[in-house]
Amino acid sequence: MTRIALFASGSGSNVEAILEAVADGRLDVEPVLVFSNRADAGVLARAERYDVATAVRMPRDYADKRAYEEDVLAILQAYEVETIVLAGYMRLMGETLLEAYEGRIINIHPSLLPAFPGKDAIGQAWEAGVKVSGVTVHYVDEGMDTGPIIAQEAVRIHPTDSLASLTRAIQAVEHRLYPETLQQLWGKKEWSG
Ligand code: GRF
Repeated sequence: MTRIALFASGSGSNVEAILEAVADGRLDVEPVLVFSNRADAGVLARAERYDVATAVRMPRDYADKRAYEEDVLAILQAYEVETIVLAGYMRLMGETLLEAYEGRIINIHPSLLPAFPGKDAIGQAWEAGVKVSGVTVHYVDEGMDTGPIIAQEAVRIHPTDSLASLTRAIQAVEHRLYPETLQQLWGKKEWSG
């Protein structure tokens, strides 16, 4: 099975959805590491509940992005990670990780890209008054939410919605779509490249 590392900076509800999908047999990948750039990230406690190893490295402890990513890369290599799954990881990938994992880094974003990239995509869509938003899973490149799109699912915004109800609806789609997309991409019992 493909060995994946999950990267997150925050609460980690998407990481948990993936770990749950693995636990109940809907997703045939092997989560070997949860990585965070924040020591206080809620995702770390979630990972421990699922017995997945964790690692934290903070960019401010390094001279520059290259030094940070070289250390992260060494950790990934130690865990023999084949694929990186970003889930609320609030850093742009630099060339060290992009080159080492070319075509093998994906991300989830809570809008129909290319609309509303960057932070607070759900709030941006709400403020814009669009009637349809959604979720995108995409390959990661050097840009902000710009890599080739793998999967998208629309979420309608109804007149009765609030920002809170829209957020819940989008999160519900994320938590289903990300494990499903991972299974389609790399969810094989036997790894064949
Ligand atoms: C998700 O909405 C994801 O799409 C975005 O960051 C958020 C992370 O939420 N990239 P969580 O930490 O998984 O709850």
